[in-house]
Amino acid sequence: MKLGAINSINWARVLAQITYYFYSWFRVTDGVDAGEVVDFCVPTGNFGDILAGYYAKQMGLPIGRLVVCTNQNDVLHRFFQTGVYKKSPAILTIAPSMDISVSSNFERYLFYLAEESTNELRRWMDRFETTEEMWIDQNLLHRARNDFISNAATKSEIIEAMKSLYLEEKYLVCPHTATAVVAARKLKLSPRNTVVLATAHPAKFEEALALALPLERIPCRPLQLGELFSLPTRKVLLPTLLSEVQSFIRKSNCSVDTNTSEDSSSTSSNAYFLIAGTFAAVLSGYLLHKFLK
Ligand SMILES: Cc1ncc(COP(=O)(O)O)c(C=O)c1O
Repeated sequence: MKLGAINSINWARVLAQITYYFYSWFRVTDGVDAGEVVDFCVPTGNFGDILAGYYAKQMGLPIGRLVVCTNQNDVLHRFFQTGVYKKSPAILTIAPSMDISVSSNFERYLFYLAEESTNELRRWMDRFETTEEMWIDQNLLHRARNDFISNAATKSEIIEAMKSLYLEEKYLVCPHTATAVVAARKLKLSPRNTVVLATAHPAKFEEALALALPLERIPCRPLQLGELFSLPTRKVLLPTLLSEVQSFIRKSNCSVDTNTSEDSSSTSSNAYFLIAGTFAAVLSGYLLHKFLK
């Protein structure tokens, strides 16, 4: 098997993430009347995973509120509080995958908030590009808040959530997931109808674990993860030129294809599997939408 990393701006990742919402909605509402509304707390930096939740809701899944859960890099939280989207320098935190100053997927959501007007969206984004700030009026903010509420977790809240969840439930979460636990608790969401999306394995974040747990409680690193740390780091510096990056990717792909022809066929069948799975989720969303109408 070959694994590839897809970062959150990539549409393929957002598409696949839509399935999380359908899967967990069906688990939460098992045996309950159709139409039950579920809230989702989503750790977010680049607005990818939570955008998938918005698409699931647009497809008809009865989602109540999508909770934007950030760390101290709270550009999104500030937007949903005030209607102002203002860039500020990224701060390094113990939840590093959310350390961003601008959220690349957010523009995709703004398109819908602009009622699919590309002109309006261009006006907003041009202003943001030139002044590092854009804003929406109170009516639009009200509309946005029908779908999204938000919270920003501090470092001590993240650590406290990791610690208390572990002591009370014996469940260890990563610092990103902890931002969503903080939000669910602070906003007093119903435990019955709220899903907290977990985003990473806690063992990847040793600094946060050391702050949250006494030494003797810190679990051992999974073997496979430990092995990664002993591998050499490979990096290639490329000029910031599209053509150079494209040619590097082409060359790297060719070397994979020629060296491991068997593996590449299983890679493509895995890709088909992912596409088929996503298609099934999209189809079930559509049917659900029809059924609930
Ligand atoms: C562990 C983890 N949490 C949260 C995020 C936030 O990203 P997004 O908001 O785009 O889903 C990422 C992004 O890759 C991540 O790796």
